Amino acid sequence: MSPTPLLHPKRLKPASSSTEGSRYQVYMETFGCQMNEYDTELVRSIMKARGFQFTPVDEEADVILFNTCAIRENAHNRLYGHLARYKARKKERGLVIGVLGCMAQNLKQELLETRSWIDVLVGPDAYRRLPDLLSDALEHQRQGLAVDLSEYETYAQIVPDRAGGVNGWIAVMRGCDNFCSFCVVPYTRGRERSRDPEGILEEAQRLASQGVRQITLLGQNVNSYRSGGWDFARLLVAVADVPGIQRVRFTSPHPKDFPPALLEAVAQHHIICNQIHLPLQSGNDRMLERMGRGYTCREYLKLVEAIRGKGPIVLTTDLICGFCGETDEEFQDTYNIVKEMKYQAAFVFKYSERKHTIAARKYPDDIPEQVKGYRTNQLIELQKEISLQHNQDLIGTEVDVMIEGDAKKSNQQWMGHTEHNVTVVWPKEGSSYLPGDLVSISIQDATPSTLYGLAHS
Ligand code: 5AD
Ligand code: SF4
Repeated sequence: MSPTPLLHPKRLKPASSSTEGSRYQVYMETFGCQMNEYDTELVRSIMKARGFQFTPVDEEADVILFNTCAIRENAHNRLYGHLARYKARKKERGLVIGVLGCMAQNLKQELLETRSWIDVLVGPDAYRRLPDLLSDALEHQRQGLAVDLSEYETYAQIVPDRAGGVNGWIAVMRGCDNFCSFCVVPYTRGRERSRDPEGILEEAQRLASQGVRQITLLGQNVNSYRSGGWDFARLLVAVADVPGIQRVRFTSPHPKDFPPALLEAVAQHHIICNQIHLPLQSGNDRMLERMGRGYTCREYLKLVEAIRGKGPIVLTTDLICGFCGETDEEFQDTYNIVKEMKYQAAFVFKYSERKHTIAARKYPDDIPEQVKGYRTNQLIELQKEISLQHNQDLIGTEVDVMIEGDAKKSNQQWMGHTEHNVTVVWPKEGSSYLPGDLVSISIQDATPSTLYGLAHS
């Protein structure tokens, strides 16, 4: 590793405090999923315990950290754009730059070869080593690399450093053993491991005492949660029973092994939201087989039937367009199922080949970019119509909404979500509500993504 100058000598700060990191300010940006947001809270906690301070202003920072995502190519490109900007700044005035998370894990070789001025690379299972590596980089200009995956690391004793607010999340497990052929997660986050329920429940109680009213439990496949005699349904109910918590969500269950007890929990427990994210990925059996998803369309539809038989539980999904060898007819199968399913929302992705995955090794990425784009847009447009229809059906009705904070566009409006996870915006109009309150909103207008209404007086 090359001994590149990291901080200009004039920016190296004398050791005036017993806590080593306290001389340095850290600016951190997070890309990707909720799990990454949660990991950023862990990293902040680990760093703060060693005296590092965080700043929201990048110009003030001695250390710039990116917590990265590797799931699709555009996540890479976003990071590369940011890195280029900070490379220039590093040249001007010295800066320590760290890349954390899935890209650090998956692309360590490439990053070190093409961007040798990155000072620290740390994968998702090695965050405990970050303070030492940063200190080494700051004080001794040493480049640091920690990308070992662990079978045990769950960061169990680390209390996440949250930004506040009424929403909180808890990772109940880490890693994934499913090896869907398109997916890089098993390679970047390693083997699946569950946290013990006691730690999770403690975390839920702590969140409740901090004013959190809605908790989302996170895992790559929550159905595989196992710890002692606990499975995910039992854990979910226990979290929903924590006093002060008014709503609990979870993401994601895998359609191949959805347990009946989990469906019962969703249907029966009034704190568990009646919304299930059930990634379909493709509506064609040959594609599902190639993707290694472990279910057929028939099996998926049977599961949906069972879910819908339990009452008004809405479904959302993930879809991939242009997977290896997908014909027009096979895409059409997906289109038809989406039409039939009437999801509340669908996240549609263009297939993006990922290094090291089974698909990258086994199948050519042979669908032209233009075709992938066309299919993706078709599904997005279809889903928009369906979501709009769902939302328009709510005009004239009243829905319960948890207030989460100001609307994006105006601090004169509140923003929250329905139990079905649809965004709702309405005027505050002198009301004395606070974030965390559950209010009844009468819906007046709708777009595919947002409901607009008035607080019911
Ligand atoms: N290309 C496109 N989409 C992908 N996803 C995961 N890997 C890829 C990939 N290589 C999508 C899946 C998954 C969601 C989180 O991201 O739909 O459910
Ligand atoms: Fe990736 Fe499949 Fe694991 Fe989800 S279940 S993280 S898509 S390998």
